[in-house]
This record gives sequence, structure tokens and C-alpha cells, in this order.
Amino acid sequence: MSLQNIIVFVSTGKQGQATVQALSDLGKFKILAVSRDPSSEAAQALAKIPRVEVVKGEVGDHEHLFNQPIHGVFFVQMGFDFPAVLKDVGSLLDLSEKKGVKHVVFSGTDQCGKRDVGIGHPFLDCKKDIEDLVTAKSFDWTIIRPVGFLENFYWPPYLDQVTTTWKETSNLVKKVISVIDIGKITAEVFAHPEKWAGKAINIAGDSLTPAQMELVWKETTGKSLDATETPQFPPGMAEAMDFFNKHEFEASSGWTRENFPFVLDLKAWLKQSSFVSA
Ligand SMILES: NC(=O)c1ccc[n+]([C@@H]2O[C@H](COP(=O)([O-])OP(=O)(O)OC[C@H]3O[C@@H](n4cnc5c(N)ncnc54)[C@H](OP(=O)(O)O)[C@@H]3O)[C@@H](O)[C@H]2O)c1
Repeated sequence: MSLQNIIVFVSTGKQGQATVQALSDLGKFKILAVSRDPSSEAAQALAKIPRVEVVKGEVGDHEHLFNQPIHGVFFVQMGFDFPAVLKDVGSLLDLSEKKGVKHVVFSGTDQCGKRDVGIGHPFLDCKKDIEDLVTAKSFDWTIIRPVGFLENFYWPPYLDQVTTTWKETSNLVKKVISVIDIGKITAEVFAHPEKWAGKAINIAGDSLTPAQMELVWKETTGKSLDATETPQFPPGMAEAMDFFNKHEFEASSGWTRENFPFVLDLKAWLKQSSFVSA
């Protein structure tokens, strides 16, 4: 059986690595794992995965990737020069259409129901513009909209929010997903276009209040979350954090688990994370 080629952009990133692994695990795709620097440690690690070829490039430097038949394309948003981002994405999508790509998957973000009115944050609003470019095309497309990554908890200031900002000033139900599951869901989507083409899906692995998070954290890791100092984030990121502190994600973890039964909740994710297994 000949393998179908799938291009994964930003393959050394969190979602990219997980997607490359999950696509490889299915055994029916050859993955062109795109990196700006194929000699990097992260790119070299990907090259060891079966059916993976690491190739130099990025969205905007993609023409050479289409010198062979391409079945699918996966990409995420990178960069802060938004007109340039949209031009490069437009060029990628035009070429994909011209070259007969069957299925394009864009992973954006859950926009808390504000997609159509706008969020007022240029990086987050750019995702709507990218979605609109993708869905206007004639190939099969799927938009994945993940909530906050569980892997963000490896960054101490992000974790410190649970007992400070999230608990004291926001207290919304927080929704989380592991990048491992974003990769597996993307692979499922490519494997079953008959089910997922033409759909935009908001995905979450768990939904908890900050107090429930604290409890699960203590029960699973044996350690308390005890930060008391509200973390400060750099400009740009601070406004995005503020938006997500004021608005609840739309995704349903129940719906996500019904459709993708493997998704990890906070407890299961912690058990396989270095918070427990290190
Ligand atoms: N964190 C969250 O909770 C969350 C939730 C929903 C959505 N998102 C979205 O996820 C996206 C990021 O995905 P990710 O976290 O999987 O990626 P990531 O881990 O941040 O990706 C890192 C990789 O991106 C590449 N890269 C860095 N800067 C770049 C640039 N200017 N242009 C092109 N490539 C660049 C580098 O790869 P090479 O050097 O190998 O090319 C690097 O290894 C963002 O659009 C974010 O909004 C994040």
C-alpha cells in the first residue's frame, strides 16, 4: 500500500510533534515534518520516527514541498506581522488547491464564542481570518480549535495563575487539553475525512473550576499549589491572558470525549507528566 503524504508545518512545536507522532502511529501516512532548521535537536528527534522525513521550510517558504503529490496539510499560526501571515497562508492555500491537496487541517484556538464579533486582540483575531481563508477553498478542510494546553503548566507563571488570578479574580470553569490529544485528534481527522471534513471543532479534555484543579493536583501529585503572587505576563500575552480570564471557552469536554474517547483529563495527564513521573 502506498503511503499518503502529509505536510506538518511547525513540526518541532508542541502540536507539531504530537501530530507527527500520531500520524506516524496510524501507519498509513508519510509525514513531511517541516522545520526552519532541520539540524536542530527537535527536528533530528522527529527524523527518528518511522515514516517521517524532516524538510526545511515554513509557511511562506513552502513551494518546494509540493514537488511530490501531497494528500494533506496541517498548520498552526506563527508570527506577529499579521498582513504577512495572511499573505503566506493565502499563498500556501492557493498552492494546495492548485496541486490537488485533498485535506487541510488548521489548528487555531477556541475563541470563547467571540469569533464573529472579534476578540480585540490581533494575534487571536488573526485566527478567524485564517479560518476564513481555509474554509473558502475547494479542498476538504477541518478547523480544530483547542482550549488552553495542559502543557502550559510546565511554565511556572502559568501554573501560578490557578491559585491567584483564576481562583480569586476570575473563577470561571477552566477548560484544558493535552497537545498529545491535539495530535491524536488531528490524525483521526486526516484518517476519517468522511466524518470530519467541513467541520470546525472546539476540543477540550477536561473542564474544572480552579478549586477543583487544586484538589486534583494535590490528590494526583501529592503537592499543593500554593502560589500567592499574581504572575505578570509580557505585553501582548498579558492581554490574551486577560481575555481568557474573563471569558469561558466554548468547547465541551463531554462532546470531545464522546468523539475522541482517548482524551486525557487533568488527572490522567498529570499521571503521565513529569509532575508525577519525574
Ligand atoms: N498554548 C496554548 O494554550 C494554546 C491554545 C490554543 C492555541 N494555541 C496556539 O498554538 C499555536 C502555537 O502552536 P504550538 O504551541 O504547537 O507551537 P510552539 O510549540 O510554540 O512552536 C515552536 C516552534 O515554532 C517554530 N517557530 C517559532 N517561531 C516561528 C516563526 N516566527 N515562524 C515560523 N515558525 C516558528 C519553531 O520551529 P522551527 O525552528 O523548527 O521551525 C519552534 O520549534 C499558536 O498559534 C497559539 O495561539 C496555543
